[in-house]
Amino acid sequence: MNNSEAILVTPKQFEIQECEVPQPKDNEILMKVEYVGMCGSDIHGFEFGPFIPPKDPNQKIGLGHEVAGEVVGIGANVTKFKVGDKVLIEPSVPDESTVYSKHGHYNICPSVDMLATQPHYKGALTQYMTHPEAWTYHIPEGMSTLEGALVEPAAVGMHAAVLGGAMLGKSIVILGGGTIGLMTLQACVSLGATDITVVDVLQKRLDLALKLGAKRVINGKEEDTVAVLRSPELYGDQGVDLVFECAGSAFTTNQAIQIVARGGKIMMVGTQSKPVPIDFLKINREVTIQTSFRYCNNFPQTIEAIASGKFHVKDMVTNIYDYKDVQKAFTEAIDPVKKADMIKGVIKVAE
Ligand SMILES: NC(=O)c1ccc[n+]([C@@H]2O[C@H](COP(=O)([O-])OP(=O)(O)OC[C@H]3O[C@@H](n4cnc5c(N)ncnc54)[C@H](O)[C@@H]3O)[C@@H](O)[C@H]2O)c1
Repeated sequence: MNNSEAILVTPKQFEIQECEVPQPKDNEILMKVEYVGMCGSDIHGFEFGPFIPPKDPNQKIGLGHEVAGEVVGIGANVTKFKVGDKVLIEPSVPDESTVYSKHGHYNICPSVDMLATQPHYKGALTQYMTHPEAWTYHIPEGMSTLEGALVEPAAVGMHAAVLGGAMLGKSIVILGGGTIGLMTLQACVSLGATDITVVDVLQKRLDLALKLGAKRVINGKEEDTVAVLRSPELYGDQGVDLVFECAGSAFTTNQAIQIVARGGKIMMVGTQSKPVPIDFLKINREVTIQTSFRYCNNFPQTIEAIASGKFHVKDMVTNIYDYKDVQKAFTEAIDPVKKADMIKGVIKVAE
């Protein structure tokens, strides 16, 4: 077996380099990588390379953490998996001894070991990789490895939806219909919610939102989102029970403040890269604002939602690139024209 990995040598430049096939430790599986999803954080890392040059000049920078493939080797103590099994992995492995893990919040453990981040920058854009058995999941019958690779971003949406209390009977607005917004939409749908509005400024994403289960969409470029949602025909003086901010912008955060109901909830899923001023007077009637970070025990339910046909991750894939074209894939993802048409890009690693 030969192995290689896509290494970011400078911002905007990958190089596919030969490397060793890793040996699985006693508690690890060895996976032949089939598909890797392109996450917004990978695309941001590719464009700006905030970790380049690395502190350690010998440190290689890999990208990719949404991954699925086939088991081709197992460590001595592995019992759940055998060679030939189709699997996906949870890429952030926590330290189970920390107080966060003990309290059931392993996702916020500061020592969590996440693929393609510090300190290792070990990315999933490689042909063979190892992973602990405890953080590996079977891909059920009828679900493909392409779908398996998209369980990770789907679990981000599932975690936010569960934490937000999405359910049948709640009015829900999702501000931002990119990958994370559309995953959140589908998580809400799979939890039974039906009254869901998705807001974006790109019509193609809104069209997909309707296909994936949104009751209505609003194009924020063409309509005044707050006025539409606050109109007597929609939520009027009552407001919206549950608002998901999935655009990562101060503008949409302020919209959330204006549309949420008294006693309602705002889930901050998007990353706010700058401080956001909030008019607390508008939400002083017991509104909850909650951030949500990655996922925590959400992989099994997300896999079930996808396998049972409630969650259509495949429909979000707009671009599939071969591994040898990884440079082209990421270059297109930052191209001002092409990126508007790319909702979810995926790299097909195995031939
Ligand atoms: N909480 C987590 O664990 C987690 C995980 C992954 C990503 N994120 C964050 O979630 C956010 C979304 O990620 P993504 O990959 O979906 O990004 P994305 O860029 O694909 O999606 C953002 C969407 O917001 C839309 N948008 C921008 N301005 C808008 C406006 N004024 N009104 C309505 N829509 C608007 C864009 O058109 C786009 O479709 C990012 O901030 C990302 O960092 C959070």
